[in-house]
Amino acid sequence: MSESLIPLSTPNFRGNEKKYVNEAIDTEWVSTAGAFIGRFEQRMADKLSVRQACACQSGTAGLHLCLRHFGVSAGDLVLVPTLTFIATINAVLYQSAEPVFFDCDEHLCMDPEQVGAYLERECRLEGGRTVETASGKTVKAIVPVHVFGDHCDMDRLMDLAERFHLAVIEDATESLGGVFTRGRYAGRATGSVGHAGVLSFNGNKIITTGGGGMIVSNDAPAVEHMRYLSQQAKDDADYFVHEEWGYNYRMTNLQAALGLAQLEELDGFLEIKRQNYARYREKLAGCSYGELLPFGSGDGSNRWFYSFALRDPDPGKRDRLLRYLGGRHIQARPIWKLNHTQTPFRQYRAMDCPRALRFYDRVINIPCGTNLTAEQLDRVCGALLAFGGEDRGYSQRS
Ligand SMILES: Cc1ncc(COP(=O)(O)O)c(C=O)c1O
Repeated sequence: MSESLIPLSTPNFRGNEKKYVNEAIDTEWVSTAGAFIGRFEQRMADKLSVRQACACQSGTAGLHLCLRHFGVSAGDLVLVPTLTFIATINAVLYQSAEPVFFDCDEHLCMDPEQVGAYLERECRLEGGRTVETASGKTVKAIVPVHVFGDHCDMDRLMDLAERFHLAVIEDATESLGGVFTRGRYAGRATGSVGHAGVLSFNGNKIITTGGGGMIVSNDAPAVEHMRYLSQQAKDDADYFVHEEWGYNYRMTNLQAALGLAQLEELDGFLEIKRQNYARYREKLAGCSYGELLPFGSGDGSNRWFYSFALRDPDPGKRDRLLRYLGGRHIQARPIWKLNHTQTPFRQYRAMDCPRALRFYDRVINIPCGTNLTAEQLDRVCGALLAFGGEDRGYSQRS
């Protein structure tokens, strides 16, 4: 009998999901109005201790709304990490703005030292705005990404943002449930520190609404404005009056019903992620050729995605490992192709990114969903450990 597939991550529906979705259907409130939307927003705002939340169709839509609200417009520069999912960068392009790409630190998150060096050496302050000296373009915002649930150094980035008058939009799409444990934001939720934070509830996220996202912020008027923009900027619903142009970005009541039920389960999911990560670390401790990467944010991380890193950068070996796992019905994936090397973005400025390049050649993500059983996890570890011996044979033969 062939072994069953161990997926990277699958949604976990064991709570009130069906009950709430049925309630939405029974009451016929399925579209972009209905009680679940407000309840989901309020519960998330309470959970993250922020003043306001706005539920939208996706994390990408949330990022776009933030960039628009905080004044990013055509020709402006937005500082972004190269190591992130492409959605972060696409949102910048939706505003006809230009990304400037930065390397990552030792924990895959945007390198604050490199951002600081760029702002200090290559930009100047001019009448309350920051101008890149060589191009004369205005630097408007930073979008730090809490990659795989690890945390950016928000102390450093917020200091820089204040000095250089930049909006900070935290891409917290992967870090829901994470809490900063160090520095002046210790105790605060990821996504709650920047001028706004954006969450995602895509199918592989720690909680899911099928597709969906949320903007969170302590700036209540900002969130109100973004909520207004997300509903086609409707000033008078009866007479179809619009004072601005907007988007069809509002979350539906059906999605919010699912989201509310999922949010009730979040603490349990965080605990499963913690336990599975600890078991992986223990089982893989003796691995000769690779290691499970630690989360720099330690216990504050939601440990969303687990990264297994080869000791040495070797794309050939990484791809052999992916094929080896695939052959054993274990889903794994390389990390994202770096954005500054992607065709649509090659024309934009990128700093040297040696760390991100090194991670790209070494790291794969391994099964990490909250449905993962101990037996499945042990099977993944068995395959990872066995690959060491088999690949040595391969290298000697080839
Ligand atoms: C880092 C990052 N940014 C942005 C997004 C976009 O979120 P969504 O898929 O909800 O649009 C995702 C997830 O998909 C992501 O992982």
